[in-house]
Amino acid sequence: MQKSDFNTGLLNFLNNSPTAFHAAASARKLLKDNNFIHLPEAQTWELKAAGKYFVTRNNSSIIAFTLTENALSDTGLRIVGAHTDSPALKVKPFPLQDDHNCVRVGIEVYGGALLTPWFDRDLSIAGRITYRKNNGTLKSKLIDFRRPIAIIPSLAIHLAKDSTKSCDINKENELTPILMLSNNNTPPDFTTLLHEQLSLEYDRIDIDEIIDHELFFYDTQPACLTGINKDFISGARLDNLLSCYTAIRAICNGTPQSNAMIILSDHEEIGSTSTSGAKGSFLRDTLDRILPNTEENLRCKAKSLLISADNAHTLHPNYPDKYDHKHAPLFNHGPAIKLNAEQRYATNSITSSFFQTLCKQANIPVQQFVMRSDMACGSTVGPLISAETGIKTIDVGVPSLAMHSIRETIGSNDGWYLYRACNKFFELPFNCNEWTSISK
Ligand code: CO
Repeated sequence: MQKSDFNTGLLNFLNNSPTAFHAAASARKLLKDNNFIHLPEAQTWELKAAGKYFVTRNNSSIIAFTLTENALSDTGLRIVGAHTDSPALKVKPFPLQDDHNCVRVGIEVYGGALLTPWFDRDLSIAGRITYRKNNGTLKSKLIDFRRPIAIIPSLAIHLAKDSTKSCDINKENELTPILMLSNNNTPPDFTTLLHEQLSLEYDRIDIDEIIDHELFFYDTQPACLTGINKDFISGARLDNLLSCYTAIRAICNGTPQSNAMIILSDHEEIGSTSTSGAKGSFLRDTLDRILPNTEENLRCKAKSLLISADNAHTLHPNYPDKYDHKHAPLFNHGPAIKLNAEQRYATNSITSSFFQTLCKQANIPVQQFVMRSDMACGSTVGPLISAETGIKTIDVGVPSLAMHSIRETIGSNDGWYLYRACNKFFELPFNCNEWTSISK
């Protein structure tokens, strides 16, 4: 795979995945196209050596794995982890507010979103709808309006004495997208709009009544290469669909020398506690089913290694004081190893050395990121999964700017570099366990 193919695929993945549900569907399609077999959680599994499988939960998280002829308890698993969700505005159950000549859509803020970038954007809505069919059964479908259907206009500078800061924005009153003008004769009905959209997206869909929804606003501007020399990629949800796409590509394109796995979890941005989140039972349950024998299961975990991939922060040229310059990653200088003394990142000196060696083998550059000591540090699924399973973990990520904005920016080589590291991780014939075990 060439860098340009990787980047084109990444842009498509971003543009077709406005929500975690859509990201999981995009992942599922790529895996199916590469002959991975779906294992429904509610059915009996029959796993074969040299098989390629995937499991989904809540249709928003996905685990895929490839097995070799070698026993898992001898080799362990090489795992790449990432998350499918991103901060966004989530539509409330009864959202429409009809006043002041406008119909607006009530929202809650999902995750730690930067709020100011949501103003003056051409927004659309996507997510999941659950409806009752005419025979009384319930069914769920994805929905995506795709076109611009709402906007949150800024307050004009002449009316705003102080410029609006993210922390001053009232999430209940001031972030409410405007959907249309009021029509006093016809009170608006949100489910009618959803019904019409579903009928457009699905042929002859059988709906008696739409019961509920999980819908999110998103920016319709597509992700793209940018900068006069195309040095950057800008787009929504690069945190963390970039790492999801990288993980999928790495496991699909690798010639499996090892037992390999990717885990893409929902709900990272809100703390990961859910059936499908990294603090939930999804990974544990999947490992228990692959290796029902406790002894083999534990031996496998002790020999496994997780690369937790989630974006890091690039040195921002306009805000250089926000960084420790010895540990501030640069664009197109490779993925960054993320370190934190309080284990907000799971990296230790052994897993860091492993990743640095891996990058050397893959012939790509690598950097290190440490937050300024006087500033709070973010976290990832890495510490959660390593604490839950005992699997040795390294936190790495592609350096980015504007994390949690409606549009984020990365270097156009760095996703490709991370892909090469992950692909090498799955392909190299070394013994991970030997390389990362502690000798006296
Ligand atoms: Co993230």
